Amino acid sequence: MPKISTPLALLTGSIYAFSKFAPLHLRQPALNILTPHLSDKVLSRLLLLCASTFAITTAAKAILGVSGWFSRNSENNWVEDNYEWDSELVLITGASSGFGEKIAAKLATRGTKVVTVDKNALGPQLQTHKNVHHYQVDITDWEALASAADQIKAEHGDPTVLILNAGICHKTPILNKDFSKVRTLIDINLTSHFAMLQHFLPAMVKNNHGHIMSLGSLSSYIPIPGAADYSATKSGLCALHEALRLELRHIYKANRVRTSLVHPLWTHTPLIKDFEPDLKELGLPTLQLDETIDPIVGQLYSGYGGTLVVPNHLGFATGIRGWPHWLQEGLRNAFNPYTGKYT
Ligand SMILES: NC(=O)c1ccc[n+]([C@@H]2O[C@H](COP(=O)([O-])OP(=O)(O)OC[C@H]3O[C@@H](n4cnc5c(N)ncnc54)[C@H](OP(=O)(O)O)[C@@H]3O)[C@@H](O)[C@H]2O)c1
Repeated sequence: MPKISTPLALLTGSIYAFSKFAPLHLRQPALNILTPHLSDKVLSRLLLLCASTFAITTAAKAILGVSGWFSRNSENNWVEDNYEWDSELVLITGASSGFGEKIAAKLATRGTKVVTVDKNALGPQLQTHKNVHHYQVDITDWEALASAADQIKAEHGDPTVLILNAGICHKTPILNKDFSKVRTLIDINLTSHFAMLQHFLPAMVKNNHGHIMSLGSLSSYIPIPGAADYSATKSGLCALHEALRLELRHIYKANRVRTSLVHPLWTHTPLIKDFEPDLKELGLPTLQLDETIDPIVGQLYSGYGGTLVVPNHLGFATGIRGWPHWLQEGLRNAFNPYTGKYT
């Protein structure tokens, strides 16, 4: 629902209620101002417009609220679970910059123990934090990852929250892409999620407690020209998460293990630096890091999983594959960040 809907409902509802229910001595001054400029017919049409706008926005909000309630409960198997943030163990991949670094900092500062996995060292803020324990591993080096996973379990126990965040993106059209770089990107952005699940999901299933959160992208629904490989991995995560939820429910019978797939809009981190000039030139919307991180951390603390679009009012994008194709193509054209400059 667009951000404007609440103020619009409040404004139109108040005008209508004022015109109908306010005492005459309060209405009269307003009528004195308006009647010299507007005929009775125009005034009554404007009030009708206010009443219908109020009714439509309020009804739409109520319907979306009820639908959101059903979505949240069905994605969480209609069961509650408790998270004790002093004793949960959170593992985050890709924490040397961007989202991963900020999420790790927020959780660690609140007192939660965080294990980070990244191919590089952590930044100065996390390096010395007493609640952060870093493992320097390339998550596409499967053997190194397997031994790091064993070491993490031996030194800290089984993670109860996995944030599969590491990701890369190149701005190159399909025909110019170096094939080995495409394979590496797919390994980091998609295949590593399978590896991490194989290492850490069994304990969550055994305890019927845990949360798997993956960083998807709105490009799963609105692919980026120049980043077809990236967009394909993010669409792949949608299928992985849908299947994971089904397997948890029907195969592993672990109905308290949560899954979340987060789809953020363009957010200012090192990942998007090659796209930033085009986004600015085209006036496309972007977010600051905190605007994206706060809802993500909020979802973790809520104890519920589910599909999370950031910002929330772009949630409609997850449904666009059901739209008529001419509308889908129109929306993708409107959000296309290509200005003609590729390297
Ligand atoms: N920023 C956005 O607009 C946006 C929008 C939608 C979704 N996302 C998704 O959000 C996630 C985080 O992105 P971000 O914007 O925070 O990007 P970022 O600042 O570039 O962070 C990505 C992190 O992943 C790490 N990484 C990359 N390759 C790795 C590997 N082989 N092994 C271990 N770690 C590796 C990076 O480490 P190094 O820095 O050490 O290489 C870095 O810490 C990604 O999955 C991205 O697709 C971002």
